[in-house]
Amino acid sequence: MAMEQSYIMIKPDGVQRGLVGEIIKRFEQRGYALKGLKIMNVQRHLAEKHYEDLSSKPFFPALVDYIISGPVVAMVWEGKGVVATGRKMIGATNPLASEPGTIRGDFAIEVGRNVIHGSDSVESAQREIALWFPEGVTEWTQVAKPWIYE
Ligand code: PPS
Repeated sequence: MAMEQSYIMIKPDGVQRGLVGEIIKRFEQRGYALKGLKIMNVQRHLAEKHYEDLSSKPFFPALVDYIISGPVVAMVWEGKGVVATGRKMIGATNPLASEPGTIRGDFAIEVGRNVIHGSDSVESAQREIALWFPEGVTEWTQVAKPWIYE
């Protein structure tokens, strides 16, 4: 079965607002497997590298300041379609356009405080996982797999 991984990051506002458990719960209950997890303060150069494709955008300095403003929870989730489905679970980039039931649609109002990041493609996920987890992630077998996948 084609399994993929996504880099999911709870941003400083999500940590400060006590949303870590709620967000992990949603991914776990969907059936995805947590392969990497750590809370960390982010060095400016790491935030700049993560968002390097946006470096020419006017909001780039504010985005980097936001990401380094407090600890983030960095995670790797694995499962069928987790990149695209994770983005659906997260909701639209601008929370005002996010559907209720999505993480941003339930917990956020402004794009500059949109609680969570999720990789936008399998290729981005591979780059982001290597960047945030240079030590690698855990390998383990989800015993519930036969109850999640046919
Ligand atoms: S763009 O302009 O279309 O390339 O941007 P987009 O793909 O919508 O968003 C890329 C990331 O930039 C964040 N973003 C912002 N942050 C702060 N302020 C403003 N105005 C803003 N606009 C976009 C957005 O949340 C995306 O970050 P991640 O972490 O991937 O969600």
